[in-house]
Amino acid sequence: MVGVLSFYRTTIGKKVIMAITGGIWVLYVMLHMFGNLKFFQGAEAIDGWAHFLRTFGQEVVGYEGVLWLVRIVLVVSLVLHVWMAWQLSRLSWASRPVKYSRRRWLAADFSGRTMRWGGVFIAVFLVIHIGQLTTGALLNGFQEGEVYRNLILLFSNNLIAAFYILMMIVLALHLNHGIWSLFHSLGWNTYPSKSLKHRLCQLVAIAVPLGFALVPISIVLMGVMNV
Ligand code: HEM
Repeated sequence: MVGVLSFYRTTIGKKVIMAITGGIWVLYVMLHMFGNLKFFQGAEAIDGWAHFLRTFGQEVVGYEGVLWLVRIVLVVSLVLHVWMAWQLSRLSWASRPVKYSRRRWLAADFSGRTMRWGGVFIAVFLVIHIGQLTTGALLNGFQEGEVYRNLILLFSNNLIAAFYILMMIVLALHLNHGIWSLFHSLGWNTYPSKSLKHRLCQLVAIAVPLGFALVPISIVLMGVMNV
């Protein structure tokens, strides 16, 4: 326990915690995005997937037992991730108490520079998103278990669809820098396959948000074409 605490107090310890908790969310968003693609197979497929997520393992842990386990892991990971980000930011500000007169971003690329604000936007998005599609508190006419219908209802509003698509761009930037940092913190960005790994990170960072965005984009197009 003492060893764990003293590791946590080091900068690298905090980075490793950020990497592991971020990695858990990366795995979750990948699975979530693949699940969402069932939208294109129709109502039965995506509603059936939601039902499966609730009943999986129910003989052992009861209805929604596995889902609640996943939710607890996600919440703990998110809290730790944000907490470590806050602590690392404070350390970085403390090490440079006097601001540079002119900021020059040398190695940091655009996605690297937007990590903190991107993270804040994603957290706000998550609260709105769960209110709309999980609890239904923020979606008029929400029906528990009718995922297909709820998605059509939500994205029939073009402004909300645009907000989701914009948030997927923010997610792409966050993933682009975040997954590469994860590799770095865990010591996986080594030669000889460093550039291949970098390309892989970029591929995930583009494919996941794009897969998500396909649902609101197609619902907007269905509305435009009156399908
Ligand atoms: C266009 C993008 C997205 C769409 C269309 C979408 C769709 C959905 C739907 C339909 C649900 C309810 C599922 C159910 O009742 O079984 C849901 C839940 C959820 N989504 Fe998303 N999602 C999107 C993006 C995201 C992103 C980017 C994240 C994470 C950063 C995320 C995290 C979650 C979480 C945590 C839940 C709650 C799961 C639960 O505890 O039951 N979603 N989403």
